[in-house]
Amino acid sequence: AAVEYGLEAPFDVEFHDSIPSTNARARDLAGEGAADVAVLADEQTGGRGRLDREWSSPSGGIWLSLLVRPDVPATHAPTFTLAAAVAVTRAAREAGVDAGIKWPNDVVVSGANDGPSERSSDDVVVPGEGREGGAVERKLAGILTEMEGEADRVSWVVVGMGINANVDPEELPSEARPATLSGEVGAVDRRLFTQRVVEEFDELRSEPESVVPAWREYATTLGRRVRVDTSAGEVVGEAVDIEFPGALVVDTGDERVTVTAGDCEHLR
Ligand code: BTN
Repeated sequence: AAVEYGLEAPFDVEFHDSIPSTNARARDLAGEGAADVAVLADEQTGGRGRLDREWSSPSGGIWLSLLVRPDVPATHAPTFTLAAAVAVTRAAREAGVDAGIKWPNDVVVSGANDGPSERSSDDVVVPGEGREGGAVERKLAGILTEMEGEADRVSWVVVGMGINANVDPEELPSEARPATLSGEVGAVDRRLFTQRVVEEFDELRSEPESVVPAWREYATTLGRRVRVDTSAGEVVGEAVDIEFPGALVVDTGDERVTVTAGDCEHLR
């Protein structure tokens, strides 16, 4: 299959014109004992997002699931989600898109938070004013990681990436505030883009300690005032850091709360 799709990846590639969900297919392959497989589809008819939401996956996107069998405890699984977000962000930036990462796993296009090192000396950042552009962040890609195994060692991890590549935005739900690669920089070569994502992911998984620093570099969430909905309730404050394996540290004013999972909204 790898030869057919023309992807030179450190993964065996399985390409489908149309499939319910590449994550579901990768889970099935995991059940059959497979490892290091990339499942790709032009279109998904039953794509799933986080929190069991529907994920619109029309033809023209990059709907990709990587099946890996890392030798790590289950608590390390979030690292794979961050690695995927970093990989997609790097590929998007190479393609000329000003992409960043909204905690934990959304690749967004905003123009916000280029970071001091990338600002020209003319840029004026007013402390406490937040960063401009937060309200217009649009989502280019989302990641859904699923896994199985024992607490002390996972059996497999499926990292699903939904990248709005050459998709007509009209076919995506507007409430998701979608961004597309074709809309940002014109139609991309999906094969090459996928190749770059997979290569970056492969490199990051071999250097897990490099994932969080890379994530920090692209984060649009750090320094922002956020509201995070967690299973334990709502946390509001300033996002001050990210910690291994992927938790967000929020300064509420009274205390620093470490949030491992939840829905995050940028308030400014
Ligand atoms: C999110 O909610 O942000 C995560 C979306 C993940 C979508 C991708 S598309 C490829 C893979 N197959 C699925 O059914 N979902 C993931």
